[in-house]
Amino acid sequence: MARTVPARVSWTPDTEERTMTTANPDDQDAVTRGDEEGGPDHAHDADGTPESAESPEAPAPGVSRRALIGWSGGALAVGAAAAGGVAAAVTASDEDAAPRVAAESVPFEGAHQAGIATPVQDRLHFVAFDVLTDDRAKLVRLLRQWTAAARAMTQGQAVGTGAVDGIPEAPPDDTGEALGLPAANLTLTIGFGPGLFVKDDKDRFGIAARRPVALADLPPFPGDNLDPARSGGDICVQACADDPQVAVHAIRNLARIGFGTVAVRWSQLGFGKTSSTTPDAQTPRNLFGFKDGTRNIAGTETDRLDRHVWAAAGDGSDWMAGGSYLVARRIRMHIETWDRTPLGEQEDIIGRNKGEGAPFGAVAEHDEVPLKALKEDAHVRLSHPDSNDGVTILRRGYSFVDGSDGLGRLDAGLFFLAYQRDPRSGFIPLQQRLAARDALNEYIQHVGSALFACPPGVQGPDDYWGRTLFG
Ligand code: HEM
Repeated sequence: MARTVPARVSWTPDTEERTMTTANPDDQDAVTRGDEEGGPDHAHDADGTPESAESPEAPAPGVSRRALIGWSGGALAVGAAAAGGVAAAVTASDEDAAPRVAAESVPFEGAHQAGIATPVQDRLHFVAFDVLTDDRAKLVRLLRQWTAAARAMTQGQAVGTGAVDGIPEAPPDDTGEALGLPAANLTLTIGFGPGLFVKDDKDRFGIAARRPVALADLPPFPGDNLDPARSGGDICVQACADDPQVAVHAIRNLARIGFGTVAVRWSQLGFGKTSSTTPDAQTPRNLFGFKDGTRNIAGTETDRLDRHVWAAAGDGSDWMAGGSYLVARRIRMHIETWDRTPLGEQEDIIGRNKGEGAPFGAVAEHDEVPLKALKEDAHVRLSHPDSNDGVTILRRGYSFVDGSDGLGRLDAGLFFLAYQRDPRSGFIPLQQRLAARDALNEYIQHVGSALFACPPGVQGPDDYWGRTLFG
């Protein structure tokens, strides 16, 4: 049940009765809600979603009720929270709840979603969801709830009433494994897959006409061996953090909030970033042992980002202006075969030396790539913008090792994530070229694939993931 959020809330613990006073001076009637009227604070809908998140005006799921509610006589002004100023409102510490620390946090709001051009963190948990409902209002309600939870978690706060502050009779709003951990630069980035617009020929949410032309299905590429169980998805969320537990906690809580409305289709854990958006930092290495991300777009290169990464008004779908298109590919790397390959051959295949990462014919890692000095089928020669009419993508992938495959080989590889303004002039032509000729192909295989339209960033307290599409 939706309820109006007061500017002041006081809670008399012995009666569990709250007195709420609205912020609006024209509406100063105190609203008294006992258990018999509104149920416990943690009441959940039939679908398991927290009641408090139903209304966009409800307290943001990131706001600890104890942080907002003064024990009898100690009412706290929460106008800022009611207005959505979560970070400002959440200042009270709670020893029981061992609140998380907001240090090392990436701003949640902005013209663009965080997690694309912002510095790449060490760890990844990526999830693709299938949307189960055909009910547009229910989906939008979930997107609002997710936004509030994401806003909170990225700032180091727990979801809803937290992990230990709720009533014992209800499952906690937050699963708890991130209590006491810093925000670890967590970013959460959402994307919408083709199935959200049309699925089984059905326009479930009345948005089929808004499907961007740039969200065109990826064609099959030579050598693909795609597993449908690791491909596709109606909605994705990319969680990146410098602590794997923080990334996993975030995805787990979003999945929990979405129970009944969405179901996890597949997910991927990643470690050891294989690309960087901060070229001054040491370039990370991939599982083949080579520096990866040397010639990536930097987060500070606003001109190149505008040209190659951010969708613009006028590109065809105005609701995507400021957003970006994400191609995700699970690429298995046959590392046992690679490890038996001579060093010189490995370097020929990549087109750079293994130690410094310098291209052949050059000395230092960041020297210009003298393309003609590289073998014709070298990966860097084939993927370089000068070999592709300027095609440029922003790579943001991670290594993965998902145990072994039962044949004594590591199930390992690169979870390739590429952001671009339009995949039809980004990933697709690039991959067509690589799939046809890349010397790396003997050592890799693409086994999962997905494509998503990542909307622009959330701006302002009433904004939510997907507002430009659904609002
Ligand atoms: C497991 C698969 C892959 C491995 C091991 C790999 C490895 C590398 C390495 C070591 C570099 C050189 C360092 C750098 O400039 O970043 C590189 C560059 C690059 N790769 Fe890959 N890569 C893989 C897949 C892909 C795919 C699927 C694409 C795109 C479809 C791609 C696009 C690029 C691009 C655009 C560059 C930069 C070229 C330049 O500007 O010089 N890579 N890759």
